[in-house]
Amino acid sequence: MKFRKTIEVKNIFNKISNKYDFLNNLLSFGLHKLWKRKLVDLVEPLNGEDWADLCCGTGDLAFLIFDRVSPKGTITGIDSAEEILNIAKRRSEIKKNKFIKWEIKDVLEINNYSKNFDGICMSYGLRNLNNVEEGIKKVFSLLKDKGRAGFLDFNHSTKNSLSDLFQKIYLRLIVVNISRLFNLSQEYEYIEKSIRNFPKKNELLKIAKEVGFKKAEYRTLCWGQMGILILAK
Ligand SMILES: C[S@@+](CC[C@H](N)C(=O)[O-])C[C@H]1O[C@@H](n2cnc3c(N)ncnc32)[C@H](O)[C@@H]1O
Repeated sequence: MKFRKTIEVKNIFNKISNKYDFLNNLLSFGLHKLWKRKLVDLVEPLNGEDWADLCCGTGDLAFLIFDRVSPKGTITGIDSAEEILNIAKRRSEIKKNKFIKWEIKDVLEINNYSKNFDGICMSYGLRNLNNVEEGIKKVFSLLKDKGRAGFLDFNHSTKNSLSDLFQKIYLRLIVVNISRLFNLSQEYEYIEKSIRNFPKKNELLKIAKEVGFKKAEYRTLCWGQMGILILAK
């Protein structure tokens, strides 16, 4: 049986799929594109390598990685929500990009790509998984020896720090109010709840080391609002 969180998350992303890119650009003032570029720069996909964008949504990272690994490598975008993945597929068609392979699947249920990838990226996905540790374990199992992975997400800052207060004000006043105009406030209220349950920097690093990653680093972006976890086997 599927976990309740998994089903809830899938329903949220299916529901917001049509407005997802528009609201992402608006609510982040376009900055999410810079942060995604930063993530890809840090993990350095190379031509000829096999990469995956997990929890790919509309495929932003997959398209960025495509520029690096093609024409010799491969890139697979995986997401569990059909509606949002359909938008990724449509974007591929518009770009006449037949290179990226899209797959509908729950990340925690991937069982056909063991040690398959040179690299894996995930943006704003790890926080949404039913279990973060299981997610990091899954990524470890999907990577080849010496494989590397990068995760971009909201940074869970220390309670009552300036960055924590700023994040709360931003999420409550800007994100929820703007999404209310599109009848999606309940869905966007979920972000704050999910950050509260997301491990902080040191916990993420500890989990990664326990899972077996030899290298684990964490960088904050945008004055502590976002974080990038970089791992290597
Ligand atoms: C916030 S969106 C991020 C999308 C994209 N990576 C981006 O940065 O724009 C989170 C995505 O994770 C997907 N997702 C959540 N849980 C998942 C799971 N267990 N397996 C696969 N995809 C999942 C959702 O369907 C959604 O598309």
